[in-house]
Formats: sequence, C-alpha cells, structure tokens
Amino acid sequence: MHHFEYRNGEMHAEAVPLKRIAKEVGTPAYVYSLATLRRHYQVFDSAFAQVRHIVCFSVKANSNLALLRFFAKEGSGFDIVSGGEVFRALKVGGDPKKIVFSGVGKKKEEIEYALNAGILMFNVESEPELVALNEIASGVGKKAPISLRINPDVDPQTHPYISTGMKKAKFGVDIQRSIETYKRAAALKNIDVVGVDCHIGSQLTSVSPFVDALAKVREYLDRVLVGELKKEGAQIRYLDLGGGLGINYHDETPPLPDEYARAIIRGLEGLDITLILEPGRVIVGNAGILLIEVQFVKETEAKKFVIVDGGMNDLIRPALYGSYQAIQPVVETRAEKIVADVVGPICESGDFFAKDREINRPKRGDLLAVMSAGAYGFTMASNYNSHPKPPEVLVDGDRYYVVRKRESFDDLINGEVIPPALQ
Ligand code: LLP
Repeated sequence: MHHFEYRNGEMHAEAVPLKRIAKEVGTPAYVYSLATLRRHYQVFDSAFAQVRHIVCFSVKANSNLALLRFFAKEGSGFDIVSGGEVFRALKVGGDPKKIVFSGVGKKKEEIEYALNAGILMFNVESEPELVALNEIASGVGKKAPISLRINPDVDPQTHPYISTGMKKAKFGVDIQRSIETYKRAAALKNIDVVGVDCHIGSQLTSVSPFVDALAKVREYLDRVLVGELKKEGAQIRYLDLGGGLGINYHDETPPLPDEYARAIIRGLEGLDITLILEPGRVIVGNAGILLIEVQFVKETEAKKFVIVDGGMNDLIRPALYGSYQAIQPVVETRAEKIVADVVGPICESGDFFAKDREINRPKRGDLLAVMSAGAYGFTMASNYNSHPKPPEVLVDGDRYYVVRKRESFDDLINGEVIPPALQ
C-alpha cells in the first residue's frame, strides 16, 4: 500500500499534485511519502510485537537524513555498512545501542569510529576480520561486541547480484566452520560474542528461504547455547535475521510482513533471545517515486524510444539488475498505446528504465512517475556524464519539503583541483 494515487486524473503524493512538485522543484526528482513510510514501518514493527525485537532500518536502502530522522523518532535502530552510514545514523540522533554494523570489508578507521560510538554489535563476516577487530579493539581499550554472520548456504531465489547466503558468496562465515570460528572468537580477549547473524539476500518473494536459513542457524545456535559449547560462556543474546523481504514491483506476490513474521516467530520457539531485523526495501521501496519529464519521442524503423530527463545515473536498478520498474503517466491519458523503450540521456545503451514497454504515447513535456523507486534509488545515484544529482522531496499530507536540494554544477566539481603546473 502506498499514497501515490490519482485524484481527478492526476497523480498525487498524498495530497500534493506531482505536477506542482515538478513545476516548483523541477525534474528529475525523487518524491517520498511520509504517510507511506509511517505505515510500512508500523506494520513491519507490529508484526513482531509478540517477541522481543529491534527493527534496524537498513540505511543503504535510503539514507536521506530526513527519513533516517523519522526512523529514529519511531524508535528504529539502524543496520549500517560503513563509517559514513554510522555518521548518518548518529547525526539523526540514532541510538548507538541499536546500531549493527555488517559488511565484509570494514576498515580500521570505520571500526574505531563505531567502537567509540558504542554500537550494539559488529556482524563479523570472516576470521581475518575477527582477528583484526580484536586487535583494533585492544588498541582503543575496548571489547568489541560481535555476532558471527553465518552463511547458511540457502538459495534465496533472487537476482544473483543480491543473493548473499549461498556458499560461493563473499558474505558470512561458512556454516560448516561456524562452530570453530565461534570457539576462536570466544577465546579472543577483546571480543565479546553477543549474537548470531544471517542475511541471505534481497527482494525475496517467498518465506521458505528465510525459514530454511533460520532452521540452519538454529542448529548452530542450539549447539552454542545449550550444547557442547555452553560451558565456554556463550553470552548470545541477539539473533539478527537481516533484511530481504521483497516488494511488489510488477507481478510479484511477496509475503506480507505478518506472514513473514509468523514464519520466523515459529522458528524461534524455545529461544530466549532478542530478535533483530534489518528491513530496507520493504519499508521504503514503494514509499518513493522518481518524477521525470519526457524530452522527446523518437521513432526509428526498428523501435520507438521515449527519451526522458532521468537516467541510469539517477536510478540504476533496471540497468544493473534488469529489474522492472512500473512507469505511470502523471496525468491520466487516453493516448494510443505504443510499445517503446523508456530511456535516459546517458551515453550508454544500458541506460534504460524500461524495454519494449506498452505505454500511452507521451509527448514532449509530459511527466512520468517511475514507481517503487524509494529503495536503492537515490543511494545508488551517481554523477555519471556530469549530471547533478536530483533533489529529494518528502511529502507530508498537503505539504512538501525539499529534503535534499538539487546539486548544482559547482557541486559537480567540488574538491577537484587543477595543479599549479597546469594553470
Ligand atoms: N542487511 C544486510 C546485511 C544487507 O546486505 C541488506 C541489503 C539489507 C539488510 C537490506 O535488505 P532489504 O531489506 O532492503 O532487501 N541494490 C539492490 C539491493 C542490494 C541489497 C544489499 N543488501 C537493489 O536495488 O535491488
């Protein structure tokens, strides 16, 4: 459910006409709906109401400060993967005791920063990382709270680029070795093993891979908590099941948060543990659109192209994953249907939002909404071809706020220097 709907034939974000935003802010522009965010967050959080849990919003999906501030105010924690994301989470008043730090390549400075901030835990992805973390923690006179990220070797049945829990992926510790790794971790002086973690992929559209992964992690947990390792003083208090719940882009039918929660809660029976969840897409994906303007309709003998002012630099998902994004006219139309590629201005043939899409024939100046662009949209944007990044707009009822202004040409060259010899 989201709040981008037609009223009198014109698409609105909540009570604000998208046409008004296009006129006042320009295009391309990201537009988010606060009511949608609130609803998604609350539905997700309340699905887990019967168990002790922390929702840690996955900052990589959308890291705009206004949105993060909203999550912090709702009581959300944050799943972060870099020093920059720690910085953002702290900036919005996020509670460090609800921050979890994942990622296979954490750098020393990032680790020190997070240690000094006092985050809840590091999700450790390898033995070399464990050793480094111990050393770095000792250097700053602290104990690093960690959970081991287990790679359970489960196929999440999603795009290979966003599938993370199979044996060949770079993520997590092989489940076969996990007990040994656990023993190693438990023996390190500046490491405190407080949890276990698992994230198998993104845009999952059925519960079964989650259930299978949880069952495997549970085998490990049962050995550590009640089995042969109990005497080694396991202090495991957190079970982090990552993110990954999919959304409807086109014709997918992902489970609703309730169904997902019920399946997970069933798998937790008998465990006295705090559950951590790291949702990203399911909260923000359908809470945002990319508003674009048609520049030209170009027809060749072979094809028709709708050329718009946004491109792969603004929203890379179709180019990178071949993913489907629905595209709707901002003003409803009865114009004839054509089959066309919707493409951007970037000098690459991979620069498209849609291929062979049936669409009402638009004309120059028409506005289109690329739907489901709230997750991994702006956060993956670049300045390729020296396009300034688009603004981000947050709608709240009948008001809107520019929560990140459009970049200028000066922003494009910020930090670049011509050396004296070339002046
Ligand atoms: N936790 C960890 C450790 C992750 O790696 C991710 C996403 C999440 C949580 C959040 O997953 P979500 O709930 O959003 O599925 N750029 C890609 C998605 C990359 C996902 C990376 N990891 C896309 O646009 O589809």
